[in-house]
Amino acid sequence: MHRVSIIGAGAVGTAIGYLLKKSGYLIAGIGSRTAESANKARDFIGDGDASIDLITTARKADIVFLTTSDNAIEEVCNSIASGGGFNTGAIVFHTSGALSSEILVSAKRAGANVASLHPLQSLPDVREAVKNLPGSYFCIEGDEAALSVAREIVKAFDGREITLKVDKKPLYHAGAAVVSNFLVATVGLGLDFHEAAGINRKESLNALMPLIKGTVKNIETLGIPSALTGPIARGDSNIIEDHLKAIPKDRQDLIILYSELGRYTVKVALEKGTLKKDSAEKIISLFDKYQEGLRI
Ligand SMILES: NC(=O)c1ccc[n+]([C@@H]2O[C@H](COP(=O)([O-])OP(=O)(O)OC[C@H]3O[C@@H](n4cnc5c(N)ncnc54)[C@H](OP(=O)(O)O)[C@@H]3O)[C@@H](O)[C@H]2O)c1
Repeated sequence: MHRVSIIGAGAVGTAIGYLLKKSGYLIAGIGSRTAESANKARDFIGDGDASIDLITTARKADIVFLTTSDNAIEEVCNSIASGGGFNTGAIVFHTSGALSSEILVSAKRAGANVASLHPLQSLPDVREAVKNLPGSYFCIEGDEAALSVAREIVKAFDGREITLKVDKKPLYHAGAAVVSNFLVATVGLGLDFHEAAGINRKESLNALMPLIKGTVKNIETLGIPSALTGPIARGDSNIIEDHLKAIPKDRQDLIILYSELGRYTVKVALEKGTLKKDSAEKIISLFDKYQEGLRI
């Protein structure tokens, strides 16, 4: 039976410990910066020795999860490695989406196998994480020996894997950040337009929610580019010009954002096939005209 230690007793570490225990793994140790977090995680998981001695905690296990905040992973890994905390042949994971397994080089030099195992999921706290991790996609990259253990864990979580080359991690993470973070920012941008039209932001968000949910559902069922609707997909250039003309003079930032997002939307509409080349050129020339107007 694998013996697992969790180093970094936050939302992800605690949830992974809990789910691994449920899947039959033995939780040997739970280490964190503070005893309070380590104890809290041990109580939630229901197993393992809680400690702030990270070296001893890692030494108890043949699978070590470094689930600290991203900034601390490399430093924590280095200090465990220099203290002799990684057993030869141990598997060391971190769960960051932005960082690659290369930051675990000190564990590798100490004789461990390393990989990153990133749950492609939003995990705001332990309880949500325990609910949302099963069935999620996990992006994995690293040493072959560590990858085969990562695959066993993904399977234990009823998850699905995406395998990446080590140098592609930043692009993978940028894609996830665009989808998640820029969606939030784009909704904020829509509220700016409504506020300029005199609609209260809260009321606007309530009114837009069914549209947002319907669009997400269309993306899920139809995919990209088929889910695209609206004036660009239809080639309604007069409507696009009305939008640009209506933007208040003191909100020129809205012209820039509308035009730049519009240019990418033209590309999607061309792929969908509902926008013809001549209409696409007309719409692009409108974006050029209004953005050029800002420079005069
Ligand atoms: N949350 C998400 O949505 C999500 C999704 C995918 C991947 N991830 C990744 O999962 C990892 C953990 O994220 P999280 O959301 O669980 O963070 P979190 O809730 O903030 O937990 C991080 C824990 O790391 C501990 N820690 C920080 N510095 C430490 C150090 N020097 N030594 C020992 N422990 C230290 C903290 O312990 P103390 O409380 O004891 O100070 C804290 O409890 C990150 O790499 C993150 O990128 C997160």
